[in-house]
Amino acid sequence: MATAIVTGAARGIGEAIGRRLVADGHDVALTDLDADAIERVGDEIGARAFEHDVRELESWEALLGQLDDVHVLVNNAARTEFRSFFEIDLAEWDDVLATNLRGTYLGCRVAGAAMRERGSGRIVNLASDAAFAPSGGSGAHYAASKAGVVAVTRRAATELAPYGVTVNAVAPAAIDGPLARGVLRDRLNEKLADIPIGRLGQPEEVAALVSFLLSDEAGYVTGATFDVNGGVVMR
Ligand SMILES: NC(=O)c1ccc[n+]([C@@H]2O[C@H](COP(=O)([O-])OP(=O)(O)OC[C@H]3O[C@@H](n4cnc5c(N)ncnc54)[C@H](O)[C@@H]3O)[C@@H](O)[C@H]2O)c1
Repeated sequence: MATAIVTGAARGIGEAIGRRLVADGHDVALTDLDADAIERVGDEIGARAFEHDVRELESWEALLGQLDDVHVLVNNAARTEFRSFFEIDLAEWDDVLATNLRGTYLGCRVAGAAMRERGSGRIVNLASDAAFAPSGGSGAHYAASKAGVVAVTRRAATELAPYGVTVNAVAPAAIDGPLARGVLRDRLNEKLADIPIGRLGQPEEVAALVSFLLSDEAGYVTGATFDVNGGVVMR
């Protein structure tokens, strides 16, 4: 059976996407930098688990070397940092860009080459509302990386379209989880007033959109970025 890779799947949205793809009948390979956590989640949801660093080309090549016939990639792994424009440490700038942007590019390049050879495939990249608006208050490095993810998505979509491979992005905002609750601590009610739908989104709601984009029905959709954000940013 062909394999679906989900990166950064040890928690949060990636874990929910992993669960959804298992339920959809994919043979799922979950990956994460955190080896113990990904092993635990893999056991729990019935998927294979791999320690993997999306920043490194060698790590991508080693991963693909262990998997047969990759037909789906969800580039979900990311480093999220909230820091004022003038206070970003340059090492942190580089690492956020390496994780979020280079990681996504490398995934599209390595798995995209395998899909091009196969003559079919689906890639979904996790962007963010931060690519389009400063609403979430995340750092300039995070916002720049996610704007880059949108650009890489379009470029990869253009190059892979003739080979039956679609590449799209999903841009969430204000999804429930430790990150959102940590950032919104003590101000949750106040922040909910800024979300037109009036609540945080659930990771499963992001996973449902990803699931559609990976389906046969989405064969004419490529190079697009879809918001799932309760109306926080409307473009
Ligand atoms: N949660 C939100 O509200 C929200 C909003 C906008 C965008 N997003 C995007 O959705 C995706 C998932 O968000 P989340 O909140 O679930 O994230 P999270 O921080 O909870 O989880 C990210 C996962 O990625 C892993 N990871 C980090 N660096 C890695 C690396 N170098 N190699 C492999 N794995 C690595 C982490 O170990 C972690 O398990 C991210 O791309 C994020 O930018 C989330």
